Amino acid sequence: MSVIKNFIPQITIQSPGRVNFIGGHTDYNDGFVLPTAIDKNIIFKLKKNNSDNICNIYSANYDMSFSISLENIKVSDITWENYILGVLHEIQQLTDKIKGFDCVLSSDIPIGSGISSSAALECGLAYGLNELFNLNLTKLTIIELSQKAENNFTGAMCGIMDQYASVMSKKNKVILLDCQSLTHEYIPLEIKPYKILLLNTNVSHSLASSEYNTRRKECEKGASIISEKYPKVNSLRDVNETILAEFKTILPENIYRRCKYIIEEKTRVLDAAEALKENKLKDFGKLMYATHIGLSNEYEVSCAELDFLVEYSKDFDAVIGSRMMGGGFGGCTINIIHEDAISDFVEKVSKAYFEKFNIKLDTIEANPSGGTSIIE
Ligand code: GLA
Repeated sequence: MSVIKNFIPQITIQSPGRVNFIGGHTDYNDGFVLPTAIDKNIIFKLKKNNSDNICNIYSANYDMSFSISLENIKVSDITWENYILGVLHEIQQLTDKIKGFDCVLSSDIPIGSGISSSAALECGLAYGLNELFNLNLTKLTIIELSQKAENNFTGAMCGIMDQYASVMSKKNKVILLDCQSLTHEYIPLEIKPYKILLLNTNVSHSLASSEYNTRRKECEKGASIISEKYPKVNSLRDVNETILAEFKTILPENIYRRCKYIIEEKTRVLDAAEALKENKLKDFGKLMYATHIGLSNEYEVSCAELDFLVEYSKDFDAVIGSRMMGGGFGGCTINIIHEDAISDFVEKVSKAYFEKFNIKLDTIEANPSGGTSIIE
């Protein structure tokens, strides 16, 4: 693509992937989550190209490019293009100030691993265009439009956590985000001598997007049935364990289990945030293990590969917490592990995983980092 030859950007943006310690599938239930951005990023090089409406995008990772007129933004057959097209479409709902631009992308976030390369892509582009064309969008608007882009252009009815973490994170802090009020608190992440280790199953089962949307609907159905008796209930956030118990035989069995997990997880995230503040890391880790059991048994979004990795870690005292992360059905587990034990654990778990599934395990040491920003 001609755009990459002699490409001298006007601005360069870095937009990170994220981890989430606890709060699985709670974001779209108005609950709490505990994510932070990590040191894996998509880099965007951007410049205006003096046309009124032609946008040229090149992905170095895919070695693919496409051009689009701002007057003709519609859903594409090519998945990665839709994150870009969705963002352009959502920005156009807010302002007519964007014009033609060229953009070169490169990324070190593994795709499909549950580290949210999609939010990094949406938010980085929205952030970059905001700077390039002085759109005066707030960070919260960038987050919300990026989430809508994903919902409307890829059909994944994701919550707001990934975009929020990608934009709002601060180095060495986690975000305790209240997804109902969209307010947050930063909690210092001082876990030395422990580290964050991601184990990438390198599987991405085809159920992932359809079951994700199904879970969302199941939770909405549960909340809606409960709201017939309790009209103040707008989402599962407003339901406690006593109210849920009343509906045990009324709700369809699978919906009851989804609701039970979400309601328990709400408490677990708050307990985990307290444990972190008090530096009770072992308690924090136990809550992560409990989350995994809920996600696997009650919420049913895990898979054999993720369950194997979490179970395997339990034999290592050095691993104090482990769970599946992200939407599920593949991707990564997040592990809190003593730094001295990482190489031994990685060697053993990789061997065991390969013997069991004949799949290579990838491991990523993730460091909590700041959110989307301009780089020199
Ligand atoms: C995906 C979604 C998020 C969130 C997680 C599960 O990453 O994009 O909104 O729901 O799954 O916690």
